[in-house]
Amino acid sequence: MELSPRLLKIASLIPKGEKVADVGTDHGYIPLYLFENNIISHAIAMDVNPMPLKRAEDNITAAGFGEKCEFRLSNGLEKLLENEATSVVIAGMGGLLMMDIISRGMPVINKETKLFLQPMIAAPELRLFLFENGFTIENEYVVREENKFYNIICARRGEWKYSNEDIYIGRNTKKNSPEVFDEYIKYKYRVCENIINGIKKGRNPDLNELKKHENQLKIFGRYIK
Ligand SMILES: C[S@@+](CC[C@H](N)C(=O)[O-])C[C@H]1O[C@@H](n2cnc3c(N)ncnc32)[C@H](O)[C@@H]1O
Repeated sequence: MELSPRLLKIASLIPKGEKVADVGTDHGYIPLYLFENNIISHAIAMDVNPMPLKRAEDNITAAGFGEKCEFRLSNGLEKLLENEATSVVIAGMGGLLMMDIISRGMPVINKETKLFLQPMIAAPELRLFLFENGFTIENEYVVREENKFYNIICARRGEWKYSNEDIYIGRNTKKNSPEVFDEYIKYKYRVCENIINGIKKGRNPDLNELKKHENQLKIFGRYIK
């Protein structure tokens, strides 16, 4: 099957032979692609909602990989046991929901667990949460799909000294995604500039928010050629 650039990038990061748990699997396309391309031989597809989980089961079974995949109705990592998965994918959700899923799933996330996170919003908040909760971000990628940019964060347990750049740009993002990085940063700069202008036009500008965004703008500005 052909994956969208966003899902393809996530799938391409999963090392061969991993035991994969796909949290919020929905269509199940990530495990399906990994089976079809002989990258993995076992996966656990999980979703909190029965309909998406059924969709995953139908797609994966129809492609002939039903025996290799377990389908679990699960709120976040609730129904995963320790050591059942070496790679955990959480994609296509908000960063705040991911923080909640990771917080509650801590008992099954050990030093060997690789997290592949693709937040739709609140990536800086998610990065800060990871740094403050004993994770390191090893790598980040940006993917462009139909004029939208998507962040993919690869994290695992470990301590990390972090900077504001790690929080707002991510770790190794420029090196890992050179083909889209310049456009991405210009986009982030424009969005940040618009937010600043909006705050300034307000009747009672929130000075903390203003300062926060002005600092972000400076960081983005450093990367614009
Ligand atoms: C927009 S879909 C993303 C599907 C796929 N991961 C992707 O990136 O294309 C979000 C999925 O996450 C599921 N979901 C939302 N909250 C969840 C939670 N707490 N635990 C597990 N799944 C959840 C939803 O039911 C939905 O199927």
